[in-house]
Amino acid sequence: MSNIESVLVENRVFPPPEAATKGARISGMDAYNALCDEASKDPDGFWSRLARENIVWNKPFTKVLDESNAPFYTWFDDGELNASANCLDKHMGTAAENKDAIIFEADDGAVTRVTYKELLGRVSQFANALKAQGVNKGDRVLIYMPMTVEGVIAMQACARIGATHSVVFGGFSAKALHERIIDAGAVAVVTANFQMRGGKELPLKSIVDEGIAMGGCTTLKSVIVYMRTPTACNMVAGRDTTFAEVLQGQSTDCKPEPVGAEHPLFILYTSGSTGKPKGVQHSTGGYLLWAKLTMDWTFDIKPSDVFWCTADIGWITGHTYVAYGPLAAGCTQVIFEGVPTYPNAGRFWQMIEKHKVTVFYTAPTAIRSLIKAAETDEKVHPKNWDLTSLRILGSVGEPINPEAWMWYHRHVGGERCPIVDTFWQTETGGHMITPLPGATPLVPGSCTLPLPGIMAAIVDEVGHDIPNGSGGMLVVKRPWPSMIRTIWGDPERFKKSYFPEEMGGKLYLAGDGAVRSADRGYFRITGRIDDVLNVSGHRLGTMEIESALVSMTELVAEAAVVGRPDDLTGEAVCAFVVLKRSRPVGDEAKQIANVLRNWVAKEIGPIAKPKDIRFGDNLPKTRSGKIMRRLLRSIAKGEAITQDTSTLENPAILEQLAEKL
Ligand code: WTA
Repeated sequence: MSNIESVLVENRVFPPPEAATKGARISGMDAYNALCDEASKDPDGFWSRLARENIVWNKPFTKVLDESNAPFYTWFDDGELNASANCLDKHMGTAAENKDAIIFEADDGAVTRVTYKELLGRVSQFANALKAQGVNKGDRVLIYMPMTVEGVIAMQACARIGATHSVVFGGFSAKALHERIIDAGAVAVVTANFQMRGGKELPLKSIVDEGIAMGGCTTLKSVIVYMRTPTACNMVAGRDTTFAEVLQGQSTDCKPEPVGAEHPLFILYTSGSTGKPKGVQHSTGGYLLWAKLTMDWTFDIKPSDVFWCTADIGWITGHTYVAYGPLAAGCTQVIFEGVPTYPNAGRFWQMIEKHKVTVFYTAPTAIRSLIKAAETDEKVHPKNWDLTSLRILGSVGEPINPEAWMWYHRHVGGERCPIVDTFWQTETGGHMITPLPGATPLVPGSCTLPLPGIMAAIVDEVGHDIPNGSGGMLVVKRPWPSMIRTIWGDPERFKKSYFPEEMGGKLYLAGDGAVRSADRGYFRITGRIDDVLNVSGHRLGTMEIESALVSMTELVAEAAVVGRPDDLTGEAVCAFVVLKRSRPVGDEAKQIANVLRNWVAKEIGPIAKPKDIRFGDNLPKTRSGKIMRRLLRSIAKGEAITQDTSTLENPAILEQLAEKL
């Protein structure tokens, strides 16, 4: 049974266990409904109460939401705060001061602990170092770091001095880095010589060098290198310095710089429907409020919790639920450098036991691959470890199929832990639609209901509501504090992508299809409705991959990329390619396909490598020359073509493209 079918017949309901409702911040559906009522009756009152209760303001705000320049909404605009002070300084003199903020487990299993007080000292020292390197308030700093304490320190240090960070995932290519340095106008790059993953030492600094060598990085003044391993790397005199060098002589005191609530805390690039990634710009005040609140609401986080979010800091999940949320909430968190399958696929379970993790947050792709591993090797099955410390489980990044949900529930959660299936996006800053562990009855495969204050709805192309039980487009009808503020340097694209005129210009268009169940009104996300793919929970634009392919000008004439369902990665990239030479077959086709895959890895990053490549003499086009992607999607899935092909100029091409390598 396919995922969609099994979700459609899903009628299992799991009410929250008593242990989860007891003492929960939002305990029971009445409490949830009361918050929703408060939010809809007096939104300004609701948000200002929460912002006063959850954020330490240097200067209190007097305005809440300002819609005068919609859709460029602002929140708490005249208030001032510092994000790092709200994550660190706030805990000084409290019980959290000497508690572990971070338990870091390296790839090789070595464990380092950092208390809140120590972290404050280290962040402050690096903040001073950044200032000494000439980084000022408002400057952009690009961070290209492995999962390390130092990665979080770099982000927090930027926040501390009011510099805007832009973290680039360590798996992205030199070209991707180059584009982002230029687009953001970065003055500094913070990186590491190497990263350790799965027992292997992988280069980072040499990729930075290669990116900068592509030219045009005119704003860039310095590169700061964390020596993760003893292996030397190339250092450019006058531009590159090590962490140890920049930290030398710097004080561990650094006054946090108050910034306006709308000051850009960070820019994070993500894929959209065109070839160019979008720099999603987030605010300081509204973003941080939501990071803190969703830790409290979705994870019901307590000071005694050991929270572990497995996401990399290069993604939004690693921003909100590694670098900011857990620290703002004052809990202890685990940060893991390595991969879930090294030294074996029991690593996650072993770490949960070792660190007594209470709240565990990961992606469906990881769960699916660990299920597969446990099914083939009993020794890595979670039953081999004591997971009784766990009280809440979370899922993020892609739809979780009910089969994986049930396994997670049974074998990891011991049928005791609520699973919060959190739907959200880079653009939303934090959770949007998610169960609450102490309130919401769970239905496997459904992200259930919006958080209080989030006016999610399902509409048609012109923005009219669609009744429960029918599919449509997911929108948010009212602004919320942690929403994207703009696309860095491209306000027009921001308006067009997220607040389309056809819908009246006031609805936030998520880009996902969704349906609400007829009985409970629960949301289920059916997948992207634009040209964005979700491979292992990573967002990729089909156009980005197409432009990467056609940029191989000697070889490729034309390319079209679509997604197809994949049991393990959720979706897989499928590329249809027309070469400048004759169509290759057999071994030669395989060889060329590999050349193309490696090219894409080099252009974008290994995560974008097409799983399937098909060669054709042409692509299926209408007589007006438009590529019929619908057909390509069917071919990619291996479906028989049932669609009308009468408008197709070259129907014979379909058979050719259906041929697997
Ligand atoms: C998808 C990741 C179903 C969705 C936080 C969205 C999900 C895109 C879920 C954003 C979920 C995320 N159920 N689909 N619980 N969470 N998605 O920006 O398609 O990397 O639009 O943010 O992931 O991906 P992004």
